[in-house]
Amino acid sequence: MINQTILINIFTIYIRISSALNTNEDSKLNFTGLGFKYGHNVEEHNVITEDGYILKLYHIPGNDRRPVLLVHGIIDSSDTFIIRGNGSLAITLVNRGYDIWAINTRGNRCSKLHEYLNPNDGNFWNFSFHEMGYYDLPATIDYILERTNQKQLTAIGHSQGNTLFYVLGSTRPEYNEKIKVMIALAPICFLHNVKPPVSTLLELLPTVGNLLQTFGMEEVFSDEAVYSGVIKSLCNQKEVGYEVCARGVFFAIGGSDSSEFEPEFLPVVVSRYPTSTSRKNGVHVAQVALRRSFSQYDYGPMRNIAVYNTIVPPLYDLGKVKMRVVLFVGRNDGMSSIRDTELLRDRLPNVEYRLLEHKKLNHLDHVWGRNMDQYLFPHILSVLKKYN
Ligand SMILES: *[C@@H]1O[C@H](CO)[C@@H](O)[C@H](O)[C@H]1NC(C)=O
Ligand SMILES: *[C@@H]1O[C@H](CO)[C@@H](O)[C@H](O)[C@H]1NC(C)=O
Ligand SMILES: *[C@@H]1O[C@H](CO)[C@@H](O)[C@H](O)[C@H]1NC(C)=O
Repeated sequence: MINQTILINIFTIYIRISSALNTNEDSKLNFTGLGFKYGHNVEEHNVITEDGYILKLYHIPGNDRRPVLLVHGIIDSSDTFIIRGNGSLAITLVNRGYDIWAINTRGNRCSKLHEYLNPNDGNFWNFSFHEMGYYDLPATIDYILERTNQKQLTAIGHSQGNTLFYVLGSTRPEYNEKIKVMIALAPICFLHNVKPPVSTLLELLPTVGNLLQTFGMEEVFSDEAVYSGVIKSLCNQKEVGYEVCARGVFFAIGGSDSSEFEPEFLPVVVSRYPTSTSRKNGVHVAQVALRRSFSQYDYGPMRNIAVYNTIVPPLYDLGKVKMRVVLFVGRNDGMSSIRDTELLRDRLPNVEYRLLEHKKLNHLDHVWGRNMDQYLFPHILSVLKKYN
């Protein structure tokens, strides 16, 4: 334990020095600070879920008859929608008068609070994207509708942020009516057609998950973990950082597009990404890929009988996801492949499919790309206008 404490201190000092050298002030501002810098006041709200999680919800007030809920992906946070500043989706939409709400799902840096569970306790981390869709979304949607006095809102999800809506629409069908339209950026549902290295990572995940479980590590990518400090300081190194973190990780996994992700932007990303989630969430994603089935968490036959009363975990019935969904798909996306999004399109009852023209558009450009005002936002704005 002493060694770990000393290591944490050394790395904390190291990170402070690295970030002191880094001149981009946006890497030091939180969502509220960024909103203010780019011309808007931001309100911080706490939403409490039915099962006791306390979620941080940011609000950039606009026209409250046009609420838009932004939902981030895995190991990410609300900040993903604002770190591009004037070129970000949150600022672009509020400047057009939309009322912006950005969720932080359970367990990430901003939402590590609970009414009675402690994040140092394994029970806090007993969730996957299932609970985020089943509890976090309904609590947040109802909170926003009550505050704005509306019956419906528009949702925009990125990556796993979309999976949550398929869980919601299939397990709590009454929520379909509360969504005017769901704009799905780089949507993740089926993972039948992913290629290496993502497929390799997914194959390794259950083994890694078991190992972590043996050591009682239910939280992954904790901001306090020593390895997170190592990752962040490595990524912040000039040149080396870009090769290792941008080319070696982000482009390898999400698809390569260096023209949308410049070296100066990397510290802004790394200052808040990755952030914590549960081991169980990662394992559930891997199960969807390896079992080739969009189903609830697989505990193994015996436990499944106790939990679900069936040997195999129940499928999510996409036929019940009756909300209008507009899928936005990039041609260079290493995670959300065209074939998998076509499978999703064919299962959703009320869907529109848009394959974006910009050929290099990868998984992360949707939130982090620097020219999305040209390649992506006009399409989002046209959908928003049609439904608002
Ligand atoms: C964000 O930063 C501001 C000032 O920089 C601070 O007052 C506020 O408490 C921070 N919000 C959160 C949720 O940490
Ligand atoms: C953001 O854009 C607005 C309007 O175009 C401009 O007035 C402002 O200076 C920009 N802010 C920053 C920090 O670049
Ligand atoms: C985790 O939650 C599930 C259902 O929500 C429950 O069946 C299971 O017993 C819990 N696991 C642990 C380790 O508490």
